[in-house]
Amino acid sequence: MRVSIIGAGYVGIVTGACLAEKGHSVVCVEVDAAKVERIRRGEPPIHEEGLAELLRRHSGTAFRATTSLSEAVAETDITLIAVGTPFDGRAIDLTFVTRAASEIGLILAGKRERHTVVVKSTVVPGTTDGPVRDALESASGKQAGADFGLGTNPEFLTEGTAIADFMRPDRIVIGGIDERTLDALAQLYAGFDGVPLIRTNNATAEMIKYASNSLLAAMISFSNEIADLCSAIGGIDAKDVMAGVHESAYLNTGSGGARSRAPIASFLEAGCGFGGSCLPKDVSALVAHGGANGVDMRVLRSALEVNRARPDRVIEGLKRHLPSLRGVPVTVLGLAFKPDTDDVRESPAFPIIDRLLAEGATVTAYDPVATDSAQRALAGKPVHYAGSLEGALAQADVVVLVTRWREFAAVPELLRTLGRAPLVFDGRRMLDKNAISRYEGIGL
Ligand SMILES: NC(=O)c1ccc[n+]([C@@H]2O[C@H](COP(=O)([O-])OP(=O)(O)OC[C@H]3O[C@@H](n4cnc5c(N)ncnc54)[C@H](O)[C@@H]3O)[C@@H](O)[C@H]2O)c1
Repeated sequence: MRVSIIGAGYVGIVTGACLAEKGHSVVCVEVDAAKVERIRRGEPPIHEEGLAELLRRHSGTAFRATTSLSEAVAETDITLIAVGTPFDGRAIDLTFVTRAASEIGLILAGKRERHTVVVKSTVVPGTTDGPVRDALESASGKQAGADFGLGTNPEFLTEGTAIADFMRPDRIVIGGIDERTLDALAQLYAGFDGVPLIRTNNATAEMIKYASNSLLAAMISFSNEIADLCSAIGGIDAKDVMAGVHESAYLNTGSGGARSRAPIASFLEAGCGFGGSCLPKDVSALVAHGGANGVDMRVLRSALEVNRARPDRVIEGLKRHLPSLRGVPVTVLGLAFKPDTDDVRESPAFPIIDRLLAEGATVTAYDPVATDSAQRALAGKPVHYAGSLEGALAQADVVVLVTRWREFAAVPELLRTLGRAPLVFDGRRMLDKNAISRYEGIGL
């Protein structure tokens, strides 16, 4: 199929490159001309395993990037909207989505062939059939369903494994205003044999995405609340508790030697909180949408509240050992919100760094790939950036591990080599507590 994608961010570029790999002809529309230039040169605008190779293979042939929305929509059969949907502090901000819809509508006004418009961005239930439809219809003078298709196709990729997630998805969810729209979307995903395909209406598809993300956020905050109680009682390590919970038959398949852990168990672990461009904003948006519809989303409000308090738990843990952090050299390991990405949006590292600076600590930070994006986000703050893990550990009296990067497994060994014994606060409980002389961690 001939596909246009509006927005070449994390979702747009990955979707575009992967659909090209699946044999479609894809054009990505991006307002940021510098990003378009980078993509044209075959340089991935984000750090994502396998993306560079897909761009090398398809750039200029099955995959193109442009700033011209009108050409892209005119030349394709289906358009996926993959622009940002931030939370503005009160509700979801649909400005980018409705603006894109209006721009698409203007082109549809003069297009004779039938076109299908699909919202891939995460939007609260009712958005596609409401504000998006309104924007498309008023700009085009045409009617959704009768004159053009209108669908939803939420994205479930995880940054860090985005290409693999897209190429081998756990499910494909498609929503549509009518069967014709759903058929067009089913055709787009025809190359994904054996993957459960959920065909439904637009609002249900939108809600599946929110319910999925909210479940993960609730599980993380549940684990963190249990961890806090373990710390408060004493003599209980939350890591041992969760290891026991993980053995539940509900979290495993098979038996005996063939027993295997359900991946969802990884969300039942204590840590220093969830971040990123999705969970915090999506849960906040759903809570707000619940309120607007007369439903108080108490579980999800609590999940956010527990998450917001995670940086305080880190500082409390440090203060069990050091009553004052004034002038103490503290190294923060990890700036990306999760490993294997350079995305620092809503990273838990930022509120932790803010608390450390407020306590008067001298902060050094290290991340294997996210230093540049973090430096931009933290501009003006007195944070030093180390160029290597070894350099980051060399002067530290306190080490706070925030992101579960594989490289950080080497911390105990490196500290031994350097002959140093800083207090290590393990915000992800990824290190062996017996391998470090001064160890503290969430849920300990
Ligand atoms: N990042 C993820 O892991 C992820 C996963 C699943 C779903 N989502 C959802 O997908 C959507 C996009 O997320 P993202 O992380 O890719 O966002 P992003 O901010 O990385 O990318 C959005 C891009 O769209 C561009 N853009 C905005 N308006 C445009 C327009 N009118 N025309 C052309 N380009 C335009 C922006 O310049 C930007 O490059 C959001 O709704 C998000 O919640 C994200």
